[in-house]
Amino acid sequence: MILVTGATGNLGSNVIDQLLKVTTPDKFIALARNDDKASSLKNKGVTVRIGNFDEPTSLETAFVGVEKLLLISTMEQNRYQQHQNVVDAALKAGVQHIVYTGLAIKDIQTSHVKDLMMNHFQTENYIKEKGMTYTFLRNTMYADAIPLITGKEVTKRGIFLPGGNGQVPYALRREMGEATANLLLQNGHENKIYDITGSNLYSYQDIVNELTDITGIKVPYIDADAASFYHILKEDGVPDFPLYLLSGTVADIKNHQYELESDIMETLLGRSTAPLSEMLKEIYPLH
Ligand SMILES: NC(=O)c1ccc[n+]([C@@H]2O[C@H](COP(=O)([O-])OP(=O)(O)OC[C@H]3O[C@@H](n4cnc5c(N)ncnc54)[C@H](OP(=O)(O)O)[C@@H]3O)[C@@H](O)[C@H]2O)c1
Repeated sequence: MILVTGATGNLGSNVIDQLLKVTTPDKFIALARNDDKASSLKNKGVTVRIGNFDEPTSLETAFVGVEKLLLISTMEQNRYQQHQNVVDAALKAGVQHIVYTGLAIKDIQTSHVKDLMMNHFQTENYIKEKGMTYTFLRNTMYADAIPLITGKEVTKRGIFLPGGNGQVPYALRREMGEATANLLLQNGHENKIYDITGSNLYSYQDIVNELTDITGIKVPYIDADAASFYHILKEDGVPDFPLYLLSGTVADIKNHQYELESDIMETLLGRSTAPLSEMLKEIYPLH
């Protein structure tokens, strides 16, 4: 039996939708912490178990009979503790294999968001130390996250970011969900570490060029000075945590931290990931 955590979230719901397409609902179950939120899953015929990463005993009960567990990372400040709780409960319940979604980055030690993203690698180490069979899916940046960084109104405002000419192998979250579900149903991924990346690398300049082609509106990219960018956002009242995450992530992009290439995503999907034009039409309100 497979169990999918985060099944009410963006990535997890895409995993569930693909599992429903390619297998039967008796082969997997979903974990949710909120019964109301789980109703859409139940309506699709999915068996839901209730468990909260902050309540270890709820997890031990929820994991009974599970062989393979997909742990989708959270964004909570205490997520390393939450992930440890999941691993500990999985061990107690006899789960054999954990698939964990982490981060595809070249060098976490020099990352500007090391304090937050280091948890992914700590979680991986914790799973290994406990002697469990693992598969680590180091996910690239979701294409869906681009508007959170650039703002949605790119055709009016352009892109103003200190991202230099750094590139990212973006993939849509629905593609990652599809690839992850396919992997969960296969053997042969035991004790493997994969960079889950899109087929092509794109810079902010590539994005504005494509947006200009799609809309016919000239969309500029201004490669901002990092200190001025930070100061403007701070003056605008952007709270500390989002400011740290945004400026740190863009600094990492500029430093080429995300420029990783791997063909595992294409293998899992059986095709290339969506081209930039398709991604942009899907993630921005361009009509
Ligand atoms: N690669 C990227 O570009 C990128 C970007 C953003 C985030 N991420 C990472 O990828 C993860 C998944 O992304 P997403 O967009 O699917 O996030 P999401 O929509 O926020 O989903 C997170 C899931 O985790 C569940 N969860 C949170 N706290 C929990 C708890 N205490 N106990 C049980 N379940 C809990 C949430 O449940 P509820 O539905 O009840 O809230 C939700 O189902 C994020 O959490 C983050 O670590 C990656």
